Amino acid sequence: MTLNRNFFWGGSASSFQTEGNWKGDGKGISVIDRREVKEDKSDWNVGVDFYHRYQEDIRLLRDMGCNFYRIQLSWSRIFPDGDGEVNPKGLDFYDNVIDCLVENGIEPMICLIHFDIPQSLVDRFNGFQSRYVVDCFDHYARTVMKRYGNRVRHWLTFNEHNLNHIGFRFTGSKNLCEASLQKELYQVNHNTLIAHCKAVKSLREIVPNGKMSGMMTYKLFYPLNSDPQNVFFARRLNDFFNNFHMHVFAKGEYPEYMMRLLKSRDWMPRFEPEDNELLKYTCDILAFSYYNSQVVSYRNFGEFSTLQSCIDATTVRNPFCDSTQWGWEIDPIGLRYILNDLQRLFDKPLFILENGIGLSEEVVDGHIKDEKRIEYHKKHIQEMKNAILDDGVDCIGYLTWAPIDMLSSGGEMEKRYGFVYVDRGEKELRSLDRIKKRSFDYIRKVFTSNGEIL
Ligand code: BG6
Repeated sequence: MTLNRNFFWGGSASSFQTEGNWKGDGKGISVIDRREVKEDKSDWNVGVDFYHRYQEDIRLLRDMGCNFYRIQLSWSRIFPDGDGEVNPKGLDFYDNVIDCLVENGIEPMICLIHFDIPQSLVDRFNGFQSRYVVDCFDHYARTVMKRYGNRVRHWLTFNEHNLNHIGFRFTGSKNLCEASLQKELYQVNHNTLIAHCKAVKSLREIVPNGKMSGMMTYKLFYPLNSDPQNVFFARRLNDFFNNFHMHVFAKGEYPEYMMRLLKSRDWMPRFEPEDNELLKYTCDILAFSYYNSQVVSYRNFGEFSTLQSCIDATTVRNPFCDSTQWGWEIDPIGLRYILNDLQRLFDKPLFILENGIGLSEEVVDGHIKDEKRIEYHKKHIQEMKNAILDDGVDCIGYLTWAPIDMLSSGGEMEKRYGFVYVDRGEKELRSLDRIKKRSFDYIRKVFTSNGEIL
């Protein structure tokens, strides 16, 4: 048996990690531009200069055999203040990127928010704490659907949506007080879910053949051992962290276990009268990123004031898995486990939107020998194939993070993910030249053989 011949192979990227030109051509300031830059890390001003080199990069993606690529639109490039006047140069830029992808035989997917929103929305309205910002997002989504919907079928609202409720403040909320932090995070999370559902509603109207994905980062929690306390604890974390958002995306309502948790801890967000109806706008595809699994050991959940502090305090090392230099445990079978679990729970097409390994690399005599990356992808793709071909899972594509080196989410150039090396350091921009790594040929064979050659 072989994979469906329409299977998607390719990669994903965010705008802030790649584009640069952070305040050129009318772009407004985003929350990322205001993020504190650590002394030994990079700022976001240049990225890997995708803004000026997108044609070269897209040709590399084509040569790599990609038939699919997920880009993110920078909201602040299109609406510099988040609301108000549109920036025509911002719209033009993404027109050019989309056209270039299509001309090179690569199907584009648009992600609307990847950890950043216009700073002005935070300064004036406290970000997604405010329902006005939900309306601004709705206007942004509708504007770009009208502009690009004739060429873009696949859409995604929030990258890794479930990070909203664990303490990531990328959606721009400020002044969250520690005492009521988790309650406020659930309000932000709820407002982003409503923003997402409004985008699904708009897509149905503006791009009738469009496909909307709901996405989360899947942190697979394993119990430390067969102690039933540990087993049930891991199960609860998987529900709270992973399945909650998927349930909303697939079934159009909050799951009962979540309602009970939120009520019992006084974390319940405020629902506006129309919200239950809006939540019913479900997704076409359930999408996720997967990098690693983690082992947790039981503690009383009630001891913790946030879900993130609970995860941090209960995670222990898995002696059965190797880990990366950054301590991410490598677990290809975990991918097969997740695909099976999601299929049985929600019965919707699944899409792997990010999978990859961060490695510190150097060019030696003009070559980058990234055998570990080859091994990582080989094993993960094999487990994905097992899930599809042996277990009957409906998975429509595999996107790598990220085909061409870019800054890591923490601003490190040292942590590289690509099949193409970019010549820059943390502070030193160097030539920004692109050099194919050894894994480039490997992944090309995988992609162009539709996963037959591993
Ligand atoms: C995902 C994000 O969580 O992981 C990306 O969507 C990020 O933005 C990727 O780059 C890898 O994480 P990191 O921190 O190693 O860059």
